[in-house]
Amino acid sequence: MKLRVETAGAMFELGYRLGTALQPGDLVLLTGELGAGKTTFTQGIANGLGIQRSVTSPTFVTVKPYLLAGGGELYHVDLYRVDDPDYLDEQGVLEEMERGAMVVVEWAERSRSLAEYERLWVRIQLEGEGRCMEIEATPQWRDRLQWLR
Ligand SMILES: Nc1ncnc2c1ncn2[C@@H]1O[C@H](COP(=O)(O)OP(=O)(O)OP(=O)(O)O)[C@@H](O)[C@H]1O
Ligand SMILES: [Mg+2]
Repeated sequence: MKLRVETAGAMFELGYRLGTALQPGDLVLLTGELGAGKTTFTQGIANGLGIQRSVTSPTFVTVKPYLLAGGGELYHVDLYRVDDPDYLDEQGVLEEMERGAMVVVEWAERSRSLAEYERLWVRIQLEGEGRCMEIEATPQWRDRLQWLR
């Protein structure tokens, strides 16, 4: 499924809608070149989950956990500076996900070992002033895409 997202505000809004639909253990993988809008989308997700703290692109920290008001956790991971394809595994993020944490990964193509997980793939491409989003879901996700509409 492909859609055009014309502005940063619309990107945040789309992320917000996904955030309201996220469930424990969900994995969202984001790919797209520098400045594509991955962090903007993630900020929307975090806001949709009720996180008030500002979500920034982690510079030196590559894994940032956020506690949700109603219990649960969101892990925001940025693999831009990571060369090790098993990083998520080694940092225990996958283990946390199996325990129910929600995980959003920027530069997700730099990771290995995600093939076995149900996941939502979001590929963002620059297109003129706006962006093109390509969204691909594994089976468990397919009947959970109402937030897109
Ligand atoms: N759909 C959109 N249309 C136009 N501009 C956008 C859109 N989404 C985000 N932007 C803008 O693009 C810029 C980069 O966004 P952002 O930091 O979210 O990208 P990123 O993919 O996280 O970048 P990086 O790879 O550096 O982490 C910001 O100025 C943001 O406001
Ligand atoms: Mg970013």
